[in-house]
Amino acid sequence: MEIVKGKRPRFATQILFLTPRQAKRIPDFSGKEEEITVRYVGRKTEILCGLGEDRDMGLSVIRSQTACALRKAVELRRDCVSVLLPDKTPADPSRAGMAAVEGALLGAYSFSRYKSEKPGEVKTCQIVGLAGGKALARTIEACKAVHYARDLVNENASIVTPERLAKEALALASLPRVKVTVFREAEIAENGLSLLAAVGRGAEHGPRLAIIEYEGAPGRKARTALIGKGITFDTGGLNLKAVGSMETMRDDMAGAAAVLGALRAAALSGARVNVLGIVAAAHNAISDRSFIPGDVYPSYSGKTVEIGNTDAEGRLVLADAISYCVKNLAPTAIIDFATLTGSCVIALGDTIAGLFSNNDQIAQRLFAAGEEVNERLWRMPVRSEHYKAMKSDRADLSNSSRLKRGTAGAITAAAFLSEFVEGTPWAHLDIAGTAFNESEPRGEVPRYATGFGVRLALRFLCVI
Ligand code: BES
Ligand code: MN
Ligand code: ZN
Repeated sequence: MEIVKGKRPRFATQILFLTPRQAKRIPDFSGKEEEITVRYVGRKTEILCGLGEDRDMGLSVIRSQTACALRKAVELRRDCVSVLLPDKTPADPSRAGMAAVEGALLGAYSFSRYKSEKPGEVKTCQIVGLAGGKALARTIEACKAVHYARDLVNENASIVTPERLAKEALALASLPRVKVTVFREAEIAENGLSLLAAVGRGAEHGPRLAIIEYEGAPGRKARTALIGKGITFDTGGLNLKAVGSMETMRDDMAGAAAVLGALRAAALSGARVNVLGIVAAAHNAISDRSFIPGDVYPSYSGKTVEIGNTDAEGRLVLADAISYCVKNLAPTAIIDFATLTGSCVIALGDTIAGLFSNNDQIAQRLFAAGEEVNERLWRMPVRSEHYKAMKSDRADLSNSSRLKRGTAGAITAAAFLSEFVEGTPWAHLDIAGTAFNESEPRGEVPRYATGFGVRLALRFLCVI
C-alpha cells in the first residue's frame, strides 16, 4: 500500500473521525471510541470513526480506528481511500498524522499466502494534510518491518527454520554500516554455546546464532543489544507439550522476528544509533537426539545447568546469547524479546507484555516507549526467593523452578536469565501473550502474528 499526501481528499472512499458532539447530527452513530459505521453520501462512501470523549482522545485512538477503517475499506474492496484527520487533536498534529499512517499500514495487513481466495487490497491511502519528511519515511519503514516480522511468524515452521532466520540476518549485511556474523551448528559447539547446541540437537535443521551489528553512530559509545528468542518450533522436546499447547508454537521465534524487523528498519532508515541484533535460533524437536531431562549441560558463561524440563528451552538459548553478547560485544544495554512463558500470558493476557529489569531507568524508558506505540508493558518483580528457586543441587542452576506447581513462572524465568547478564543494564520482555492474537483483530493488531516489539524497540532507540 502506498501512502500519499495532499491538501484535499482525492478519493471517493473517505475515512472521517468524529467526537460524540460532532456525531449528534448523524443518525445511528454516537462517536464512541471503537465505534465505526459506513454511510453513503452521493457518490461518496464515508467510513465514520468514533473518537470517544476528549479525555480518551489521543494517538492510540487515531491509530486503532484508522486500522479498523482500513479493514472495512478492504472488506468493501476499495482500491483507494482518503483519511481526513480530526480537526482538533490534543496531541502534536504531526504525531497524529504518523499514528494514522501506522494505523493504515498495520491495519491493512493480512497473511493470505495459503488462502485460494485473496482478500481485497487498498493500493493507495491518502492522508489529507500529512506532513512529510524524515518522520514519515521512518514510520513507513517501521510499519514495513512490522509486516516483515508478522510474515516470518505466520509462515510455516517447516519453512522458517533456524537456517532461514540466519539467512534473514545475512540479508541485512548488504545495507550500509551493517555487519553480520552467523554461527552454524559446528561453530556453536566449538565456541562453547552448549545450551544453544543442546536445545538444537534433536532437530534435522540445526541451531544458528546470528549477530547483526549496525553502527549508525560511530562516535557514540552507547550500543544497545536486542536479543531475540528464535525457537522456530517448540514441541516441548522430550517433555512433550500436550494437545492444545503445541499448535501455535511456530510463534516461538516472534522475539527473533521482532529483533530482525527492528534492525532492518533502523538500518534502512539510516538511524544515528548503534544497535546489535542477536538471534538465538533452534528447533526444539523431539527425536532420539534430543537433549535429555535430568542431564547437566555447561553454558557459555561457565555456569552449569541441570535440565529440569526440556520445554523450558527459551531461557537456555537466551542464556548463551546473553553471555556471548556480554563477553564479546560490549553492549551498554541489553533488551531481550522472548515468547518465554505461559505463566506471563496468565498474568497479563495477550495485550500486555511482561517487563523485568535490573535497571530502573531502562525499565521506565521502555514502559514509556510502550505506551507511546501502544505495545504496552507492565513491570514485574524479581526477588531473592526467585533467584533461589532456580538453583540446583546437582548443578549451578536448574532451568525449571523449585516453586510448587511452577508458580511465578514468568518471574523465575527472568531470574534465570539474570544469572547471565553480569551487571549489564538489562531488560527482559516476555511477549508470549502479545506476539500472537488468537482472537479477532483489535485496531492495529491483526489476528495471529502481531509483530509486537518492532515499534517498541524503534521507539526506545528514538528511530521513530
Ligand atoms: N514457548 C513456550 C512459552 C509459550 C507459551 C509461548 C504459550 C507462547 C504461548 C516456552 O518455551 C515454554 O514452554 N514455557 C514453559 C516453561 C515451563 C516448562 C517451566 C511454560 O511456560 O509452561
Ligand atoms: Mn517450551
Ligand atoms: Zn518456547
